[in-house]
Amino acid sequence: RGTVGFNYRNAPAVAYARELIASGELGTVTHVRVRLFSDYAAHPDSALTWRYERARGGGGVLGDLASHGVDLARFLLGDIESLAADTAVFIPERARPTGATAGHTLATGGELGPVENEDYVNCLLRFASGARGVLEASRVSVGEQNNYGFEVHGTKGAVFWDYRRMGELGVGHGTSYQDQPVSTVFVGPGHGEYGAFQPGAANAMGYDDLKVIEARNFLRSVTEGTSYGPTLEDAVHSATALDAMSRSAAQRTWVSLG
Ligand SMILES: NC(=O)c1ccc[n+]([C@@H]2O[C@H](COP(=O)([O-])OP(=O)(O)OC[C@H]3O[C@@H](n4cnc5c(N)ncnc54)[C@H](O)[C@@H]3O)[C@@H](O)[C@H]2O)c1
Repeated sequence: RGTVGFNYRNAPAVAYARELIASGELGTVTHVRVRLFSDYAAHPDSALTWRYERARGGGGVLGDLASHGVDLARFLLGDIESLAADTAVFIPERARPTGATAGHTLATGGELGPVENEDYVNCLLRFASGARGVLEASRVSVGEQNNYGFEVHGTKGAVFWDYRRMGELGVGHGTSYQDQPVSTVFVGPGHGEYGAFQPGAANAMGYDDLKVIEARNFLRSVTEGTSYGPTLEDAVHSATALDAMSRSAAQRTWVSLG
């Protein structure tokens, strides 16, 4: 039993999006686009820390950002059946740091070493439900800071979420099909864990609040003996998908998650 730090699904707007999908109000979900764009490794002088080494950091943006994207995709649309991915290293060498590092330290003048894991991934997804998806993640996107989110489309509607406007969900559903209006819903006490933080809609929650929810889920998992929030099983599913993305990119083929 335990809880895993897939914190983005703790956002009340994400919980609401999942509810809307499950209720059938969007019709049958046809496709999703999940994006995780960041610039944290975009500076060419960003030091060659543990992050860029296979032995100490494992994967690159796959583990760091795409892992969250896979969890969001599964949380919203259910299990992934197969995928086809491509990866790239856009900054192949970085300078070794000369001292201890924390965060994204810059290091100029040091000896250059190879970046051993991917800066970027794009991936086509097929879900067990028949829905299709596109997941894209980058750690080197100049001009992007925490541009994480999704667009989910169904036969009767759509939902749109941007982490940077965490408390808002774009919702379009009804009977129009074409020219369907999209409204911005400010999440409130009826959505996810929002009511534990704020008494009324449109009061801002922040990243730290998602971590508070994560900590509570973890403590409840320990004390009550039942898993709350994203489980270890969810982490295994995410890791399996990331492993499949690596294989798919290396072999240039679709990979089934079996
Ligand atoms: N869930 C999330 O949203 C999220 C967000 C950010 C980071 N992370 C994860 O958190 C982890 C840490 O990331 P970070 O950005 O804070 O890394 P970081 O490099 O900034 O910090 C790591 C810290 O650990 C210290 N350290 C290294 N080896 C140590 C040792 N042997 N003993 C004690 N301290 C040691 C370093 O000095 C440094 O201060 C990574 O696995 C990252 O993927 C998760």
